[in-house]
Amino acid sequence: MTLMIERLSLHADGVAHGPEGTVHVAMALPGEEVTGVIENGRIAAPKIVTPSADRVSAPCPHYRACGGCVMQHASEPFTARWKAEVVRNALASRNIEAPEISVSTSPLHSRRRATLAGRRTKKGTLVGFHARASDTLVEVPGCLILRPELMAAIPILHEATTIGASRKGEVAFSVTLSQGGIDLAAIGGKDSDPAQFEALADLARQYDVARLTWNDEVVAARHPATQRFGVAQVAPPPGAFLQATEHGEAALVGFVREALVGASKVADLFAGCGTFSLPLAEQADVHAVENASAMIEALDQGWRQAKGLHRVTSEVRDLFRRPLLSDEIDRYDGVVIDPPRAGAEAQVEQICASRVKRVVHVSCNPVTFARETAALTAAGFTLEKTLVVDQFRFSAHVEVAAYFSR
Ligand SMILES: C[S@@+](CC[C@H](N)C(=O)[O-])C[C@H]1O[C@@H](n2cnc3c(N)ncnc32)[C@H](O)[C@@H]1O
Repeated sequence: MTLMIERLSLHADGVAHGPEGTVHVAMALPGEEVTGVIENGRIAAPKIVTPSADRVSAPCPHYRACGGCVMQHASEPFTARWKAEVVRNALASRNIEAPEISVSTSPLHSRRRATLAGRRTKKGTLVGFHARASDTLVEVPGCLILRPELMAAIPILHEATTIGASRKGEVAFSVTLSQGGIDLAAIGGKDSDPAQFEALADLARQYDVARLTWNDEVVAARHPATQRFGVAQVAPPPGAFLQATEHGEAALVGFVREALVGASKVADLFAGCGTFSLPLAEQADVHAVENASAMIEALDQGWRQAKGLHRVTSEVRDLFRRPLLSDEIDRYDGVVIDPPRAGAEAQVEQICASRVKRVVHVSCNPVTFARETAALTAAGFTLEKTLVVDQFRFSAHVEVAAYFSR
């Protein structure tokens, strides 16, 4: 039986009406007619009977097997339109009409932070990404998203797996490109003993790794694993959050800075290591709030060592349990919020009750973004400008920045 794809799900599966209800279809596009075996409401390996004009042949040789990407069969303009539509639909579900949404897409080979998995096998080691919905690891020597420096680090991960993975377990390698070189944080391997520690330290020496941590223990710190945020240099804790591409970070920072031109006191909430706080300190006094103390310490050090910035104060605080209260927010001309996927419901409630006039919301979840937008607009804010930043290219992940004023 042939099914017609009507739309994409939030996971970028095609969605069709089947004989027994909704069917999700892997790697299918709206308007396509497909056939295939339906298992648990999903066709995992469809035959595309009538391809869409938006279909392209996937550029990566690993696309069929690797679970890292789910949208390589769609053209770039389609993906950009779809990601904007995900945001528009999320807002529409709250009866909010979005102004025009621009999309900025990161180039190929630009991911500077990724998590790969390593495992020992009978023949040696496997290092790669997981296959779709599976424990299987897929090696990705032709990966199109990772920066060349991350690709060049894969042999290090193989050797680290040989040294420190247990017989059955998997090691999660968080690999970040820092100014000092590769910053590698491994979790899930065998606990370190002196011989293993020495072997890993030798490995870091051999490949000139900037920093290597193993189950949170620092094995090597050979070069400063710093990131540049504006004029400041920050050494984030191992495995810390960092915007996925330099392009994405620049697009978001540019958006935030432009929205807050003229504000002289800004609160940066869910500030991380200072991605927004430190560039903003070129134009305003900033108060940075974040619940991870090691990140705040890194941010503060970065500010102290930089020259020519406005004052940056910082605070370790759980903004879910103890949001900045409305009278605290009244001290600022503008607020930036960049929460995790769960959103910032309690914090937005306080922003709404305050007198602040400008808010920039950066979000990795269109659903909580729409919820917070509904609260802000009900409190008199207008959604002025929206930007989708596609720094997780070929994935269904949608990152959005929005500027509100009242
Ligand atoms: C999406 S990241 C953004 C970080 C930073 N703005 C950036 O762009 O690099 C979200 C941040 O919120 C922090 N966070 C998570 N839960 C929190 C909470 N309950 N209170 C305060 N900060 C929290 C995380 O540690 C993380 O640094």
